[in-house]
Amino acid sequence: MTMLADKVVIVTGGAGAIGFATARILAREGAQLTLVDINGEALRVKAAELAATGAQVEAVEADCSAEADVRRYVDATLKRFGRLDGLHSNAGTEGKLAPTADYEVEEFDRIIRINLRSMFLGLRFSLPVMLGQGGGAIVNTASIASERGLAGACAYNATKHGVVGLTRTAASEHGGQGVRVNCVMPGVVETPLLNAMLVQMFPGGVEEGQRALGKVATMNRIAQPAEIGEVVAFLLSDRASFVNGSAWGVDGGALATIRH
Ligand SMILES: NC(=O)c1ccc[n+]([C@@H]2O[C@H](COP(=O)([O-])OP(=O)(O)OC[C@H]3O[C@@H](n4cnc5c(N)ncnc54)[C@H](O)[C@@H]3O)[C@@H](O)[C@H]2O)c1
Repeated sequence: MTMLADKVVIVTGGAGAIGFATARILAREGAQLTLVDINGEALRVKAAELAATGAQVEAVEADCSAEADVRRYVDATLKRFGRLDGLHSNAGTEGKLAPTADYEVEEFDRIIRINLRSMFLGLRFSLPVMLGQGGGAIVNTASIASERGLAGACAYNATKHGVVGLTRTAASEHGGQGVRVNCVMPGVVETPLLNAMLVQMFPGGVEEGQRALGKVATMNRIAQPAEIGEVVAFLLSDRASFVNGSAWGVDGGALATIRH
């Protein structure tokens, strides 16, 4: 028996590395999916790739930080599938890196909008549907940067701390009503977002950065996107029926240790 048979799940940032790897796993586990992304071209390619495996997939090009777009992706899901059982709220961006003392105010506001407002809006417009149905599960994507400072990334870091706060608050509000809200805190994962950060952080670029950041984890390597997706799938499924309000490190032990 698959873990998510007949469940309807929305994945935001669904054309990106973690989002799409997760979507593939959710489809493998029997879920019907709405993929949401601001990058329409990549979204169409990824949705077609998934549909070719036999999965039921709706694709919605949308800006997850815009209220009307979030209402639209929820409505499109209800129209296509008639219900909503899960949301993996995952869209995000790294933003420019600079010390806090130099950080551009407009860039700070932009990152708050994309990484944090989008998470609030996802909760705001999916929760009423799930509460009305009497059940559902939400998994937000936070980060190990939710638990530690990250020099040069004040905006990104603040948003990822905020994602944990939104998660715990929604979990506190609705745990007794059959809706569970959790988040994952990925460590360093090989994705375009990571590489965009590494070229800003390391003179030797992506290769030097991946080597250096691999040492952050006890396992001496960075993660592949599917390693995050497997945990998201579990948290969205009924197998995680008593897991609520938690922030799951999927980080190869990075938060568990002080490397020296
Ligand atoms: N890669 C890592 O090491 C790492 C670590 C911790 C957390 N994360 C988080 O994982 C999530 C996914 O990132 P990824 O690493 O797969 O990067 P990615 O760049 O491959 O995917 C991000 C996706 O989000 C989409 N997106 C960006 N802004 C959007 C918006 N306003 N509306 C809709 N879609 C939007 C992008 O088009 C892209 O497809 C992000 O929230 C990121 O912060 C990544």
